[in-house]
Amino acid sequence: MKLSVPQKSVAQDQTRFRTVVAGRRFGKTMLAIREICYHARIPEQVCWGILPSYRQAKMIWWDQLKTRLNKLNWVKKINEAELSIVLKNNSKICLKGADGAGFENLRGAKLNFLVLDEAANIPQQAWTEVLRPSLADTKGKALFIGTPKGVGNFLYDLYQEGLDTTNDSWSSHTFTTIQGGFVDEKEIEEARRDLDKKTFEQEFEATFVTYSGLVYYGFKRSENVKELRFTTPQKMIHISIDFNIDPMSAVCFVIDNNRIIVIDEIEMYGSNTDELVNEIYSRFPGTKIFAYPDPSAKARKTSAIAGRTDISLLANAGIIVKAPNKHMPVRDRINSVNSKLCNGKGERGILIHPKCKKLISCLERQIYKPGTSQPDKNSGHDGMNDALGYGVSYLFPITRQYNVQPQVNWSVRIAK
Ligand SMILES: Nc1ncnc2c1ncn2[C@@H]1O[C@H](COP(=O)(O)OP(=O)(O)OP(=O)(O)O)[C@@H](O)[C@H]1O
Ligand SMILES: [Mg+2]
Repeated sequence: MKLSVPQKSVAQDQTRFRTVVAGRRFGKTMLAIREICYHARIPEQVCWGILPSYRQAKMIWWDQLKTRLNKLNWVKKINEAELSIVLKNNSKICLKGADGAGFENLRGAKLNFLVLDEAANIPQQAWTEVLRPSLADTKGKALFIGTPKGVGNFLYDLYQEGLDTTNDSWSSHTFTTIQGGFVDEKEIEEARRDLDKKTFEQEFEATFVTYSGLVYYGFKRSENVKELRFTTPQKMIHISIDFNIDPMSAVCFVIDNNRIIVIDEIEMYGSNTDELVNEIYSRFPGTKIFAYPDPSAKARKTSAIAGRTDISLLANAGIIVKAPNKHMPVRDRINSVNSKLCNGKGERGILIHPKCKKLISCLERQIYKPGTSQPDKNSGHDGMNDALGYGVSYLFPITRQYNVQPQVNWSVRIAK
């Protein structure tokens, strides 16, 4: 495999600690795997590839790494369970997930080379408390590589370290997806249409966006609030639910032409799932109902009847329940709502009836806790927004897979 021009510029950088911040599908993982193999050409080296989870290490890296080393004919012994490979020169390459409690699986090694892929999703303490000391004796090197995740994230700090010209142990590189040369312009235009402006800039232009101020900055009352009249009664209603007890919040919408048209909202204090079901049927009698609760509703029991879960109660009432098996990161859920409220091309994919006063007020008011990227949940502006988010993120998740085109000749602009 030939490296692309920007990949090569990283490979040629001899600095001890390198940080690469690049857009989605830039070729980060490919570069990281190449670098770990390249370092392991030296005999008796211990090289680790760290991903946010063991599962990701196995799914994203393992096969690619084995294929590459087999092609080079360097392999002496493979341990599938440990995700480790001993090479003929007695160097060892191991893959690890940073998801073990207390990072216990990352402790105690002496390392010569370390790569953190998807570094923005790896907890900072894994590096500072566990991995950094393991490079000390050997004066080992590290490569951090990832797509940015806001200014408050650890990758941002590493990136800044590399920009400091007085510190020659650290260097930084940044590239957009386009500069990588593996995703064509058309695909990128499609992403611009799917994503809100900030998310697009983060994911494709590798920009450290600041999450502060309003959470749902895509919402604009004059554009997203509209009274649409339907000439025939709706046959299908979608209801997004946040099962908080006080209040329980639900957003009722229809889907029309790929747009979400919010027609009603339900807010109930001191209530339970049984009462919510009754309320839904009294508002929409004879209608097919789809419900989008958060995934924890599978286990939670807000019902008056002991032992029944919220989801089983909805299902028993004839409601079709759509809930993902695991929680989506909050940031992804918020981004999917913002992208639908207003995409990078200014198109509005969520229209809200003016009578949904609580939802409108929540969208207009919820802010990030100052100095953090955590949405404020203490001022009562969260329930309706969370509810809306469960449905929108289920139906219109942020696309994570973009098609990659075969390698072409690039012209490369160096990022500012
Ligand atoms: N030097 C290269 N030569 C040929 N193909 C490459 C090269 N680098 C990357 N690719 C291809 O580009 C695609 C994206 O690469 P890779 O998975 O490394 O990107 P990534 O930046 O890690 O993506 P993601 O943001 O999804 O993690 C893959 O299909 C890969 O095979
Ligand atoms: Mg990758």
